Amino acid sequence: MTSNVRPETMQRITTPELAKAFIDEQIAAVRAQVGDKKVLLALSGGVDSSVVAALLIRAIGKQLVCIHVNHGLMRKGESEDVIRVFGEQMDANLIYVDATDRYLDLLAGVSEPERKRKIIGEEFIKIFDEEAAKLEGISFLAQGTIYPDILESKGVKAHHNVGGLPEEMDMELVEPVKLLFKDEVRVVGEALGLPHSMVYRQPFPGPGLGVRCLGAITRDRLNALREADAILREEFDKNGLAGKVWQYFIAVPDMKSVGVKDGKRYEGWPAIIRAVNTTDAMTATIEEIPYPVLHKITDRITHEVPGINRVCFDLTPKPIATIEWE
Ligand code: XMP
Repeated sequence: MTSNVRPETMQRITTPELAKAFIDEQIAAVRAQVGDKKVLLALSGGVDSSVVAALLIRAIGKQLVCIHVNHGLMRKGESEDVIRVFGEQMDANLIYVDATDRYLDLLAGVSEPERKRKIIGEEFIKIFDEEAAKLEGISFLAQGTIYPDILESKGVKAHHNVGGLPEEMDMELVEPVKLLFKDEVRVVGEALGLPHSMVYRQPFPGPGLGVRCLGAITRDRLNALREADAILREEFDKNGLAGKVWQYFIAVPDMKSVGVKDGKRYEGWPAIIRAVNTTDAMTATIEEIPYPVLHKITDRITHEVPGINRVCFDLTPKPIATIEWE
């Protein structure tokens, strides 16, 4: 086991050359640690687990078994991206579990935010356990722990993430990026050939759209949220805002208001745009979004997404508001 303390002499990885040297070093270390045994990884599609997956595929190929659990609360296209990049392009040993129905059935009628988070987290562990039990000869568990996780939570990537895994799994850990900061993980990810969109993906909470589909989640409102969010992301991309705004998304509250469509009363949910800038997520400011972009987004969401009849923009910094609506 390597130390959990980053040596003061360790150079910050900022270039493809430094990334390559790090990758070569870690490939050798992982091979020495793992030998011919099998390694299991929960692959969420987030930056850290994706980079670990790509690195381990290089190091040990099919000895790595990735499990991707789609909890039905992913953004549009995310699980598909995981399957395409890892299952198809990198030819990984990937187990895909579509647990959408299981999650949405469990979450039906549950409106309390902490309870929702708990259900989502616990179910993940159950599913991961079930899948792991079907496999034979797994000796190691890989994790996308990064250095800030160690500094903040004593090492195991559990904190408030869905990726928290049961301690009783009793497997030796493989954590090749645990001494890296986020910017370094991204440089390494690009050097490993991961798509830019995956490596520079904005932060996304473990419980996913579950914290943005407010109150008790219903399938129709969740779908509306997912489609509206995809439109927001597409328009931010097209208008050069994707690299300027740190985090942006839609929240859809569990309430309706009156509107009018085709001359008839049309009750719908509001889609609330949240677009913030921050360096550490502890405080956040509101980015000025050009009005023409906001008008375009409003037009598209209200015309293309069934169930949404208003678009609002959240002007509140953190504090006093948190980034997520939850
Ligand atoms: P708040 O809402 O507390 O969020 O201002 C701060 C940052 O943390 C993200 N966030 C989460 N990330 N699991 C995560 O990995 C979670 O459960 C979670 N909840 C909030 C949020 O998106 C923002 O970037």
